[in-house]
Amino acid sequence: MLSIERPDSSKVFALISIGIVAAALLLGGTLAATRSLRQEARDKYYAQYNQQQLLIAKEASKTINEQFEAIYGSLKLSRRLLGDTPLIPSSRSFIRDQMQIVLESMEDTPVVEYAVFDIGGKVVGMYPEDEFTIGHDFSWRDYYKWARDVGSEGKRYLSPFMEMVGGLLKGKKALIAANGIYGGDGKFRGVVIALVNFDAIVNQHILPIRLGESGYAWLIDSKNRSILVDPRGRVGGQSFEDAFLPKWPKLYSIAMESQNGKPGKDWYDYEDPESPANMTRKLVGYYPVEIAGSLWTLGVCTPMREVDALIGSVLRRQNILSWISVASTIIGALILVALLFMWNRTLTREVISRTEDLKDARMQLESTFQELLSAKKMAALGRLSIGIVHEIRNPLSSVLLNMQIIRRKLGGEAELDDNFEIVEEEVQRLNTLLEEVMGFARPPQLRIKKIDIVELIRKVSILVNQQLEEDGIRIAHTWSTAPDYFSGDMEQLKQVFLNLILNAADALKEVKGLKLITVHTLSDGGNVIITVSDTGKGIPEAEIDKIFDPFYTTKAQGGGLGLSIAQNVIIRHGGTIEVKSPPRRGAKFTIRLPRNGPALSEEIL
Ligand SMILES: Nc1ncnc2c1ncn2[C@@H]1O[C@H](COP(=O)(O)OP(=O)(O)OP(=O)(O)O)[C@@H](O)[C@H]1O
Ligand SMILES: [Mg+2]
Repeated sequence: MLSIERPDSSKVFALISIGIVAAALLLGGTLAATRSLRQEARDKYYAQYNQQQLLIAKEASKTINEQFEAIYGSLKLSRRLLGDTPLIPSSRSFIRDQMQIVLESMEDTPVVEYAVFDIGGKVVGMYPEDEFTIGHDFSWRDYYKWARDVGSEGKRYLSPFMEMVGGLLKGKKALIAANGIYGGDGKFRGVVIALVNFDAIVNQHILPIRLGESGYAWLIDSKNRSILVDPRGRVGGQSFEDAFLPKWPKLYSIAMESQNGKPGKDWYDYEDPESPANMTRKLVGYYPVEIAGSLWTLGVCTPMREVDALIGSVLRRQNILSWISVASTIIGALILVALLFMWNRTLTREVISRTEDLKDARMQLESTFQELLSAKKMAALGRLSIGIVHEIRNPLSSVLLNMQIIRRKLGGEAELDDNFEIVEEEVQRLNTLLEEVMGFARPPQLRIKKIDIVELIRKVSILVNQQLEEDGIRIAHTWSTAPDYFSGDMEQLKQVFLNLILNAADALKEVKGLKLITVHTLSDGGNVIITVSDTGKGIPEAEIDKIFDPFYTTKAQGGGLGLSIAQNVIIRHGGTIEVKSPPRRGAKFTIRLPRNGPALSEEIL
């Protein structure tokens, strides 16, 4: 038999669990990969940003260098112009003229003072012109001593960073660039100096450096380990130890690192002393500035959060996109699983229903086959019976005829009269049996009419009433639904119910207790159902399958054709007849007839 395997729920559960675990692993893996990719992107971006800082620091360092190159170029010019001139008061006007030429070349530089000293350290020329200073002795100054003691032709001097206490730059930061003046014999002949406004350099070349919104630059004197421009843009002068070490140890180590004169990239945590809560990590790129033996380092820095914000907005969008794609993948997978699940269920249901249909069809086929088989058997039996009836009927009528002739010839022999009567009756009974067999073998055509059930049962009752009364049997007619009409052959159906009632009466004969036959009718949709039950001896289980067979009887006088004729009539009406006989509960015959009469044509039946 075909059986449909329903999906095992534990298997489905295991599959779903595996699916969930796989999805979770996939999700976890994707998230981890995304995180590491994001970190990689961030690191690359930092490195790129750092590289940019380094380039900017390099550019600024180059500009500052160029500024000083220009200043030293001017000093070299003045050295050349004045090298062969005796630097004495009588040459004052010549010196002034020469200095004027040099001044023009210093126009675009942050030089604010320009002076020439003689061999003894006295000022012989001064710009801006200052009558009080000319002739004064400055031989104690560093640059003078340097030019006299260690300087040589072409050697450059740069003072350390200082704050001016007098003159034009009072209160400002300045540097002195100097060259010695030497004669053709290489002998020391005087000094030329330029006072460089450091504030101007800072304002022009360092403070404007911006990388990002809030980036800026700082400048340190790596050789002297002091700050020139601090991270807040102020021109300072503190030592590394004082300025950086207590608060910004990482910045201190970067500053110390800068002493090797190499460019570098790094970061440090910066806490603004004015708002300590604002701790910021900064990215820095730094580049050395080398001028006349001094080593400065220019750093370009930007708070990390700004760098983060730049890449963050891109990463955030990328993040949203990756979440959207993860979510749509999961939703898509869920929809697919749900669809598959539904499809599978529909398919299973379909297969089950088709299998049920197939089963029904097979049963129908089997029963039709059985019916055909029995119809065929019946037809064969019928043909046989007709032959036999013919063969018996003729000799039987000649027996009856001859017997009547003999009786007449004997002339009313009273002694033999009884025997003649018996023979005649028996011949008569045989004739009736032959008629029955003929009726069974060649059933008359159905004459379909509208039949009232009550009327049908009533007519049958009239036929049997007297006999039943004699035997002490009661008959009752009951119904569940209102009495109904249906289409059928009144005469043949009368025969059917007559036989059923007479059978029931036979079964009740030897019964001692209640002798009751109940005929019950009810309507069931397109059918009329009539049951005939009795309180008789019932039918043994072993015999119940045989009672519809022709000529099966348990009665001495029975022909055994009653039920098979009845079954034949009911089948030809398109109905069914069934029997049930539970032990000690009598027998119950149930007849189901279509309300509209037989559906098939008479020939087929
Ligand atoms: N109500 C019943 N209670 C018990 N047995 C029954 C009942 N109806 C039928 N039978 C059994 O079924 C057999 C067959 O019945 P069927 O009507 O075909 O033939 P019959 O009554 O024996 O003879 P016939 O009807 O030809 O005179 C009966 O002999 C009897 O054994
Ligand atoms: Mg009978």
